[in-house]
Amino acid sequence: MSKSPLVIFDTTLRDGEQSPGASMTRDEKVRIAKMLEKMRVDVIEAGFAIASEGDFEAVKAVAEAVTESTVCSLARANDKDIDRAGEALKPAKSSRIHTFIATSPIHMEYKLRMQPAEVIERAVQSIARASRFTDDIEFSCEDASRSEFEFLCRIIEQVIDAGATTINLPDTVGYGEPAQYGAQVGRLIETIPNADKVVFSVHCHNDLGLAVANSLSAVLHGARQVECTINGLGERAGNASLEEIVMAVRTRADVFPVTTAIDASHIVPTSRLVSSITGFPVQPNKAIVGANAFAHESGIHQDGVLKHRETYEIMRAEDVGWHTNRLVLGKHSGRAAVKARFEDLGITFDTPQGLNEVFTRFKALADKKHEIFDQDLQALVGEATAPELAEKYHLLKLEAHTQSGSKPSAAMTLRIDGRAEQTSADGDGPVDAAFKAIEKLANSQSELKLYSVNAVTEGTDSLATVTVRLEKLGMIVNGLGGDTDIVFASVKAYLNALNLLESDTVKAHPQREGV
Ligand code: KIV
Ligand code: ZN
Repeated sequence: MSKSPLVIFDTTLRDGEQSPGASMTRDEKVRIAKMLEKMRVDVIEAGFAIASEGDFEAVKAVAEAVTESTVCSLARANDKDIDRAGEALKPAKSSRIHTFIATSPIHMEYKLRMQPAEVIERAVQSIARASRFTDDIEFSCEDASRSEFEFLCRIIEQVIDAGATTINLPDTVGYGEPAQYGAQVGRLIETIPNADKVVFSVHCHNDLGLAVANSLSAVLHGARQVECTINGLGERAGNASLEEIVMAVRTRADVFPVTTAIDASHIVPTSRLVSSITGFPVQPNKAIVGANAFAHESGIHQDGVLKHRETYEIMRAEDVGWHTNRLVLGKHSGRAAVKARFEDLGITFDTPQGLNEVFTRFKALADKKHEIFDQDLQALVGEATAPELAEKYHLLKLEAHTQSGSKPSAAMTLRIDGRAEQTSADGDGPVDAAFKAIEKLANSQSELKLYSVNAVTEGTDSLATVTVRLEKLGMIVNGLGGDTDIVFASVKAYLNALNLLESDTVKAHPQREGV
């Protein structure tokens, strides 16, 4: 079978960030972008430059840091958005502007309140505007899967004539069904007279759990770019997951007439990095990157795998980055070894203080925990983002008490705005008691949306990473905390969330800002 290249367009830093609570700082985006570059992702959508000052700076920083992948910014089809995207992308070696406008009757009538002819005019103008900055221009027909075929043909033909080089057909609301959606993409490619001048792309949401199936069906019908995210992160139920697309195409090379440039051995470390930065844990049974993805429980399966691996395994765990970095460091490891290991994980420090800070945390952890794994290191760095904030709340001392027959309680000393204050409370468990004690002082008026505990490695001495999601006045933040003691980890995560709510780095959800 002759193969064509399939462009992998990663939008973890843009659509992925639109998951409520998944906001990333500029430095976090750069760290993930460097991993994506190492993985040889073709295009990295770094953000939506006009959405906020922070996102503009993040796109710019990614454009400065990445040289091997094309860096892209999203922009609505208007001059202001496009100019902002172009400005943020200036430092990029290779840049792309991704502009979009809705094309479905329901979106045009109720959201845009525009006539179809005006939508076409706006789309064509936006391509002309984007060409001031780059000749790599992607145009998306938002809600394409619910758009009328004839209208899609008209608008796409005209934007191609205007200079668009990639045409994206998003299944924005996850409504597509694989056979139908793939056929729609194929028919458009066959019908539009200048279709051969561009790459057709798909961008599928997972509302019905069909994002990967829809994307792959479109590939079978001629799409040559897939937009996807690490761990399937994204708006609502998320996007097609990069790791599933890449491994499906590779494992079923007999079916798919395409190859990607992806170095799959970086998939698992990147998945972990994204999970630790966003605080979104990966479900254990998630394909490719879930903890159980290669674990065989049934005796029959185990027996089969031991006799001949291919009896039950269609991929090799090590090919996607499992097992490559088992035990690495311990109590006696020095700064150079720790730094080198971080570099292997795609984590670098801009200043010697940054490394010192994390090294101090590493030593404290190594005192409590015999073996330090890569996951521990990633959790340490995730936690180390907290000091970037102006820390209003800081834990000085904590005592938690549980005893059968009596109510669990927690007492602690917090430094709040530089002053030490004491608090205590009872609760349904020590964590509940600790959170109640904090709220007695903080009175944050926030609502707890998620409390999640993850053991990052095997064994009861595992570092626990805790995510606390708080919502206040439409702002959603994910606080992260790590410790071998779950109560400590939980308190750190809660305080981190409170500090995030206080900080000006918090962004509203880009689409809620009504930019
Ligand atoms: O889902 C969608 O339609 C999008 C576009 C902006 C590409 O994210
Ligand atoms: Zn999307």
